[in-house]
Amino acid sequence: MNFLNNDTKRTFRQLLVSGLLILIGAVAAPSLVSAETIAVIGTGNVGGALGPQFAKIGHDVIYGSREPAREDVQALVSQTSGNATAKLPMEAVAEADIVVIATKWADTEVALKSLGDLSGKIILDPTNAVRVDESGIRHHAVETSTAQMIQDWAPNAMVVKAFNTLGSGTMADPASAGGPMTIPIAGNDAAAKTVISGLVTGIGFEVVDMGDITAAHAIEQMLIVRGNAAVLGSRFNYYFRPVPQN
Ligand SMILES: NC(=O)c1ccc[n+]([C@@H]2O[C@H](COP(=O)([O-])OP(=O)(O)OC[C@H]3O[C@@H](n4cnc5c(N)ncnc54)[C@H](OP(=O)(O)O)[C@@H]3O)[C@@H](O)[C@H]2O)c1
Repeated sequence: MNFLNNDTKRTFRQLLVSGLLILIGAVAAPSLVSAETIAVIGTGNVGGALGPQFAKIGHDVIYGSREPAREDVQALVSQTSGNATAKLPMEAVAEADIVVIATKWADTEVALKSLGDLSGKIILDPTNAVRVDESGIRHHAVETSTAQMIQDWAPNAMVVKAFNTLGSGTMADPASAGGPMTIPIAGNDAAAKTVISGLVTGIGFEVVDMGDITAAHAIEQMLIVRGNAAVLGSRFNYYFRPVPQN
């Protein structure tokens, strides 16, 4: 480059450095997460699927279990990367920014009310209230939605409905869906929805914001639709194909 003058060489070098920085940023961006401490209340199917997934993308997971020393709970901790631990539910929540309520609906009110102060925390609510009638058909078993009821029980927390419309096996292994899947979410707090959207997309799903917490009623009905289709022989997962822009 001897034919270039010093100013041109400097500009060229600056362009090269900026280009490299942009490239490094683009490559690094998908793996950059702001590490949150996530309390996963319940160590069953959903807790056992989402805990390891959230840890894999760099978050600190604390399982909140009624029996943290139990063998299956300790096995789950050892399958979860990072600084995973298990504690009593109230202790887990005290340290967390985000609280996943992975309990059966019938246990959720008691479980939630045993967690202490939830003010300012983001509650991720994957619960479903399902009644199965005598012919095996599923019905939504609450009048509003479980998410609205949880928001009422924890008025100073920011509840976000998410992850209720798919099976725990798919949460644990999104690739097993055989293609993209959409997770609808709803909640009153935009910043909390941004955080939960990051978890959804971070573990490999697409996310669609359906609105405020009252939209959880429709999202919970989506699980009923999916469950009944499965009962009637058509198993499917949700994927919202975007309408092409003209
Ligand atoms: N299974 C699915 O595929 C799926 C998919 C989407 C949404 N959901 C919804 O997600 C929720 C969890 O379902 P799941 O299948 O994971 O249930 P699960 O396997 O029965 O696990 C529930 C867990 O809740 C904990 N628990 C029970 N009572 C509690 C209490 N009083 N206080 C604190 N924790 C308590 C238990 O953990 P410890 O014994 O360790 O305390 C238990 O392992 C349900 O609302 C369900 O409708 C399930």
